[in-house]
Amino acid sequence: PRKVTTRRLIEMKAKGEKIAMLTSYDYSMARLVDEAGMDAILIGDSAANVMAGYGTTLPITLDQMIYHAQCVTRGVKRALVVCDMPFGTYQGNSTQALASAIRIMKESNAEAVKLEGGEEIIESIRRIISAGIPVMGHLGLTPQSINKFGTYNVRAREESEARKLMADARLLEEAGCFAIVLEKIPAALATEVSRSISIPTIGIGAGNGCDGQVLVLQDMLGINKGFTPRFLRRYADLGTVIEDAIGNYISDVKSSDFPNEKEQY
Ligand code: KIV
Ligand code: NA
Repeated sequence: PRKVTTRRLIEMKAKGEKIAMLTSYDYSMARLVDEAGMDAILIGDSAANVMAGYGTTLPITLDQMIYHAQCVTRGVKRALVVCDMPFGTYQGNSTQALASAIRIMKESNAEAVKLEGGEEIIESIRRIISAGIPVMGHLGLTPQSINKFGTYNVRAREESEARKLMADARLLEEAGCFAIVLEKIPAALATEVSRSISIPTIGIGAGNGCDGQVLVLQDMLGINKGFTPRFLRRYADLGTVIEDAIGNYISDVKSSDFPNEKEQY
């Protein structure tokens, strides 16, 4: 299958075709996601939560993100693969940011990187793009700033934050970003941003006016059972499926039902 490129995503927006994106962190799941026809796959630093069990995305390291990205890219033939830059690997200065982005690209086969923030990190974004590395922006609820925000509530409900977000989106477009994730902001604002720029917006909890949508794979599959925000649509209840399967296995072992004659040599 022909690889989806960053240019293709921009074309999709121009043609009014919606962009479907999901996260993946490992080979087996990435393969399923890719074979289903996903446009783009994100190795999210949500791996810190979903894969490692941390309470925030802050602790995950560049080495750990590269490991997840290596696993994912081995399973993907068609989707565009984007890798999050983890907290602390790009905020210091643009030299550090470029070095981190180059490590991801050289060591993992990912095709683009994603950074959280606007004007604060614009030099880093410009420098990464100058090196030929495509950048996806991320505005609104940027979880690496949870200690500044204090909550995971909707962002940019007030005028001043909404105005900064609009300006940041334009700045990211001018800097050459190929897309922007908009996380947990009012739908009306996300629609306005999407109409004001020519690169695609990929929403999560940002309404139907975005040019595409992204969700965390384990959340939409119902594996992350306790997590039920309003924006999340559950496409399966795999948590229950997995629990039932494992429960059945345990009872089959305990009752000596497993293995049977056909299941032994
Ligand atoms: O880390 C992540 O999963 C993300 C998406 C939710 C956009 O950044
Ligand atoms: Na992320």
